Amino acid sequence: MKSEFQVVPADRTDNITYAVRDVVVLAEKVAKQGKEMLYLNIGDPNKYDFRTPDHLIEATHKALIDNQNGYSPSSGIKEGLDSIRGEAERKGIKNIQDVFVTTGASEAIEICLSALVNRGENVLTPSPGYPLYTAIISKLEAIENPYYLDESNGWQPDLQDIKAKINDNTRAIVLINPNNPTGSNCSRELLLGLIEIAIEHDLVIFSDEIYDKLLFDSEKHIATASLNHDFPIITFGGLSKNYLGPGLRIGWGIISGNGPMLTDFIEACNKILRARLCANHPLQYAIKPALEGPQDHIDAMIAKLTIRRDLTVDMLNKIEGISCVVPKGAFYAFPRLHINGEDSVWVQELLKATGVVVVHGSGFGQVPGTNHFRVVFLPQVEKLKSAYDQIGNFMAGNK
Ligand SMILES: Cc1ncc(COP(=O)(O)O)c(C=O)c1O
Repeated sequence: MKSEFQVVPADRTDNITYAVRDVVVLAEKVAKQGKEMLYLNIGDPNKYDFRTPDHLIEATHKALIDNQNGYSPSSGIKEGLDSIRGEAERKGIKNIQDVFVTTGASEAIEICLSALVNRGENVLTPSPGYPLYTAIISKLEAIENPYYLDESNGWQPDLQDIKAKINDNTRAIVLINPNNPTGSNCSRELLLGLIEIAIEHDLVIFSDEIYDKLLFDSEKHIATASLNHDFPIITFGGLSKNYLGPGLRIGWGIISGNGPMLTDFIEACNKILRARLCANHPLQYAIKPALEGPQDHIDAMIAKLTIRRDLTVDMLNKIEGISCVVPKGAFYAFPRLHINGEDSVWVQELLKATGVVVVHGSGFGQVPGTNHFRVVFLPQVEKLKSAYDQIGNFMAGNK
């Protein structure tokens, strides 16, 4: 072995960043200096005053005791798959061709992108959007093709921008609805417009609906696949957010559309599913109780989150230099910063000065020349108030 030997990582990892966790590295340094920290960066309800519903925990516990600890079928256990299918049908999704359970929605997204996209091809992804898509697309040596969400229209996807960005190598459109990081919820009209574009250009739609039950102000969620039963649409969901169990690592994919169009793609997904054996087996027993059991926790969660959302929007909009579109779902806001300079620097300075941890807008994508940050409004009211007071003070001293 030569002494200068270095293990050189693959180029495909060059573009992989995950701003939500990357910011924690600085936060930990600042925390070590004894500063009290206020973390508004991670979308994990169980870190705050939310708990996984008891009936999910009991079902999992029973599965462990019953020795359901071997491998499960690669697509998942039958009772879980039937429940997911039933739930999809209740949401109006017909013509379901395949359903599978994965290690969080993250794995379903990775499997479907891997089964579809070749090196050098591109995928339309929302900007701002969830950084996992960027990471997977980089890993596949494919190209991310970001399309903008329109801040002046409640962060709805800009259909003109999508049309303008499609080229011969575009394979799919990713939609995140409700959106992380903006909290927007797509209108029926917009979803129909998006489907029309996909049909015209033979693009598969990946509809990430992991927050579909977390909506405020009596907003209704429309499953994209419920609006067209013939065209290939893949819907992603899971227990992480609606069912307060991100660490359970249970998610799924639902493939719908005309069967013959999808045969080869479904086999490709299943080859990958088989090769990785299965998702966590005992945890799959939480799916049926989640989807078919009591849903009280959802109303309770929405009630708490509505108060926290309102406080977030009110307090942030009162700060000079910040404007915040009202989120309609999920538990994130994506306020705009009217500053000179860059949001990544602003976030670091804020963190060092106040201990408030938020994520810079550039970590999610945004229109060039604009600056934003993402806040998670899961913490209790007192914590949020204190964080927004500190952001206000910081802005007053740093323009
Ligand atoms: C839009 C979106 N999709 C997928 C995920 C990942 O979900 P899971 O925990 O089920 O892997 C997240 C997590 O924050 C998300 O915000």
